[in-house]
Amino acid sequence: MRNGISHAIDVVEAPASKIDSVDFDNLVFGNVFTDHMMECDYVDGQWQNPTIKPYGPIQLEPSAKVFHYGQAIFEGMKAFKDDEDQVWLFRPEANIDRFNKSSVRLAIPEFPKEMFLEGLETLLNLDRDWIKKGLGNSLYIRPFVIATEPGVSASPSKSYKFMIICSPAKAYYSGEVRVVFAEKFSRAANGGVGYAKAAGNYGAQFYPTNLAKEEGYQQIIWTDANTHEYLEEAGTMNIFFRVGDKLLTAPISDRILDGVTRKSVIALAEENNIPIEVRRVTVKEIVEAAKKGELKEIFGAGTAATINPIKGFGHMGEKYELPEQAESYAKFFKSKLMDIQYNRAEDKFDWRY
Ligand code: COI
Repeated sequence: MRNGISHAIDVVEAPASKIDSVDFDNLVFGNVFTDHMMECDYVDGQWQNPTIKPYGPIQLEPSAKVFHYGQAIFEGMKAFKDDEDQVWLFRPEANIDRFNKSSVRLAIPEFPKEMFLEGLETLLNLDRDWIKKGLGNSLYIRPFVIATEPGVSASPSKSYKFMIICSPAKAYYSGEVRVVFAEKFSRAANGGVGYAKAAGNYGAQFYPTNLAKEEGYQQIIWTDANTHEYLEEAGTMNIFFRVGDKLLTAPISDRILDGVTRKSVIALAEENNIPIEVRRVTVKEIVEAAKKGELKEIFGAGTAATINPIKGFGHMGEKYELPEQAESYAKFFKSKLMDIQYNRAEDKFDWRY
């Protein structure tokens, strides 16, 4: 609904579903897409009526600005199915708000929230069979906007394409995750785009992450660009450290993504009287805590990654392994979140939609 008026969404159904060709037990994250997608163009200074149509290629001119200047942003959301076949989104309005914040930073026109939600609901209703029941199964939702105007002058595009594509998902990481603390490369700087889900933030991590992989690490924990003394985020997820019983995580800033899972973990920690400090976390204190045996856990929090325990980390050529925890905070938060996401517990925070 926009301004209380239902928005005309054109729906073109796929002639046949691909669903029977999908091996849902062996999904690799983000490789398979559902039957339909949502598409909406921005032309002549406004977003046009959206269309939901069969998933498939789109046509763009080679000079489209997205290819040259990376004027593109995206989001990551998830839908879950409960035991009664009801479909739930988790805090979708937080993602839509962040989508529009990212758009503003990249000089992209904001997308109307009501049209986003109405289109997404229509899309999920069409593709609801792709959302499988059972803990760990979800539908990963990828909304994005790209700059479509042809022309290589370095200025904001006058036309855009908004899309939502959906992919059935299980775990993001298939094995154990070890991370290295960034010593040389940086992800974001003050005044930059670190807080936005700008496509380029992710592409720029590929090269240093490849180097880290050669050393046996799946991810990098990014440090502040000025001193490399403070631990910030992991690029695909925000990051939490447990020292003794205390949980530590960096405050959001213009370098750090305001993660929906991150803020949900903070709220759950507060609700469950788990001591949590949201403050700058130094590399030095974490390395010292690891040496003294006080560093109990590191875990990442993100929509795709959910709550992902980190098995070990590297710093200045040294490797540190983390002990197995009988009473792990990562497991606790994961199960609390899943209880809400799969409608297995009361939703005190009103996060289910
Ligand atoms: C998400 O968690 O949804 C993200 O956007 C991270 C992504 C790069 C997989």
